[in-house]
Amino acid sequence: AGYFTYDPGYVSTGACESKITYIDGAKGQLLYRGYPIEQLADNSNFEEVAYLLLNGELPSKEQYDEFVAKINNHTMVHEQMMSFFNGFRRDAHPMAIMVSVVGALSAFYHDSLDINNPQHRDISALRLISKVPTIAAMCYRYSVGHPFVYPNNDMSLAENFLNMMFSMPSEDNWKPDPVLVKAMDRIFVLHADHEQNASTSTVRLAGSSGANPFAAIASGIACLWGPAHGGANEACLNMLREIGDVKNIPEYVKRAKDKNDPFRLMGFGHRVYKNFDPRAKVMRESAHEVLELLGKHDDPTFKVALELEKIALEDPYFVEKKLYPNVDFYSGVILDAIGIPTNMFTVIFALSRTVGWVSQWNEMMGESSRKIGRPRQLYTGEKARDYVDISSRK
Ligand code: CMC
Repeated sequence: AGYFTYDPGYVSTGACESKITYIDGAKGQLLYRGYPIEQLADNSNFEEVAYLLLNGELPSKEQYDEFVAKINNHTMVHEQMMSFFNGFRRDAHPMAIMVSVVGALSAFYHDSLDINNPQHRDISALRLISKVPTIAAMCYRYSVGHPFVYPNNDMSLAENFLNMMFSMPSEDNWKPDPVLVKAMDRIFVLHADHEQNASTSTVRLAGSSGANPFAAIASGIACLWGPAHGGANEACLNMLREIGDVKNIPEYVKRAKDKNDPFRLMGFGHRVYKNFDPRAKVMRESAHEVLELLGKHDDPTFKVALELEKIALEDPYFVEKKLYPNVDFYSGVILDAIGIPTNMFTVIFALSRTVGWVSQWNEMMGESSRKIGRPRQLYTGEKARDYVDISSRK
């Protein structure tokens, strides 16, 4: 009994109050705690943005240093975690490993799982922000059969991530190019939060039952995996490669417009942004910088990306439906140029979004009155009927 609104896909349902992230889809505006994403992408870094999202204000120098020291204190994962990796096939999708290993963190940190204790919540948030990059890099190293690299706490989070991904034990003082570190950091910053998207809503829903934060974040990772959400960057690059040559673009654009063909141009369109995706603008700039540095402007994948962008921005179908390239259109190109394999793209999205997930989870857990998330349904099944014995069924 009782009335409720039928809203498939929650297109017009507000399910929570939040002070963290603001999006104005019509204006193409994205603010973290009031600060425009473009300013943060240009002037800040991932650690500072993590502090901002978690705490509501930019840190003073002292607060920043203290926060970074705390993050560095938690970058290692328990040695026993290695056994988890060994249980997986080498060709397992790294997202499959991520979901399991992040969920398994709750088995290691019984000491801080009281969700009603703010100190426990803070330490869980720090552990997740610090350990997920290490786990993400381990997923990659495992898949290629390379030894795991321990975190280097003298590096920034973005630099350390590239270090754990690509350095070899024989290479003392290995350092990635600062342009690539900056591009990586920007990808982290731009993906850090995005209000009540599908995975964040999943984290909130899981958290609303009182599930521990590691379990709640693992559920967010599972949701992010889908190609309509975080899996889009991987799907987008696979699509660009499949297109292969600019001469094949019209065929794919035609397919994307055909109602009877389920094919969509990956990396285009957004539920909220109907003007442009401000993250895509910043990513586009980064993509050019990285390709310039690496001398990859003639890379066939990037040529296809640029031409596709041009064609789609002029095509009446895409213009009328307000389908613009989204953040994942360019992030895939950058990650590919850096040498990150496609199946790691969504893992990197998950690493970045962990900051948003824990901030949103923490905000919800700090509310004085909390309600379990429990949508209703429009039942379209059978009316009540009597059980029929198996001997009498047709
Ligand atoms: N290619 C071709 N047509 C499209 C596309 C596309 N990428 N996206 C939407 N449309 C069409 C769609 O067919 C529909 O047409 P009609 O009104 O004639 O039925 C119309 O545009 C509206 O689409 P929708 O599916 O109702 O819109 P939505 O808000 O439910 O979906 C979306 C948003 C992002 C899931 C969708 O645009 C999409 O599937 N894009 C490709 C996947 C992608 O790039 N996802 C990443 C999003 S950004 C990062 C993130 O949030 O994870």
